[in-house]
Amino acid sequence: MSKLHALILTATASLLAGPTLAAPPDWGKVPAKEVTVFYPGVSPLEWITKGTEHGGARALRKGESCAGCHHEETADMGKKMASGQKIEPKPIKGKMGFIPVKVQAANDGANLYMRFSWKQPPGGGEKMDKDNQVKLAFMLEDNKVPGANLSGCWETCHADARTMPDAKDDKKTKYVKDGALASGKYYDLMQWTSKGGKFDGYVADKRVMEGGKALLEAKGEKKGDEWAVVFTRKFSGGDGDIALASGKTYNFGFAIHDDYTIGRFHHVSLGYTLGIDTDADISAKKP
Ligand code: HEC
Repeated sequence: MSKLHALILTATASLLAGPTLAAPPDWGKVPAKEVTVFYPGVSPLEWITKGTEHGGARALRKGESCAGCHHEETADMGKKMASGQKIEPKPIKGKMGFIPVKVQAANDGANLYMRFSWKQPPGGGEKMDKDNQVKLAFMLEDNKVPGANLSGCWETCHADARTMPDAKDDKKTKYVKDGALASGKYYDLMQWTSKGGKFDGYVADKRVMEGGKALLEAKGEKKGDEWAVVFTRKFSGGDGDIALASGKTYNFGFAIHDDYTIGRFHHVSLGYTLGIDTDADISAKKP
């Protein structure tokens, strides 16, 4: 085969392959931020803001963030709730109060890549979700939900949601007060499940686990006792997909349902910022 012929063949092959597929970066070169997710017990927004029970309520109203007060101490907080010492009427025996997670982010101008890695804690609790040992979800918010810049996911966490002790309706999911896609008052929600599921939804007046078009891939694997989950998400998609842009910062939080749990029995992060090509708590830059 002549050199020219070979060249034409290669060129045709790459044309047929279409645009290059999104590929995650070399994670070994992407800086990691350690975020310790903790077991929140029953600490819905109503408990947080009421003021009589939570010491942070007044400062929160004045603009202090949850992370501002609590970032360093989430492990200790989680221990109190997991053990039932505080605001947890139904402690799970042997439950770890916290999980340190390494969070990495990057972008290539068209896609956001997020990687979460952590060591599997000991388990053995009731198998509420038999199919999934682990689920990991994260939410993004585009600075439109009041309070989301301070409280992260807590704006969606309410006392009347299912699995909460005061819930009256076991179908009621998390929601945002006055939430609506049209007004932009919603959180974009993406979830990976260890069974191999991937969900692209949102939380507005209720939680919807489908309809998004931005999430290309959610892949997780366990090597030894270490989990690593990687999301590939296009900058923009469809309904409930927040459009990401270079230079902008979004509100970010994530949760792990460890040891076959559902509903509120997860470990959660406080609220952090995610910056695209810009400095933030977690920065997604071009590798
Ligand atoms: C001004 C600092 C401050 C801010 C801001 C703040 N908190 Fe607190 N928080 C406290 C203090 C002090 C306590 C412990 C005493 C108490 O319960 O009042 C506490 C307790 C808690 C507890 C119970 C566990 C424990 O260690 O006692 C949870 C859960 C919690 N905060 C979550 C949050 C969340 C979520 C936010 C944001 C929506 C937040 N806090 C904002 C100061 C703060």
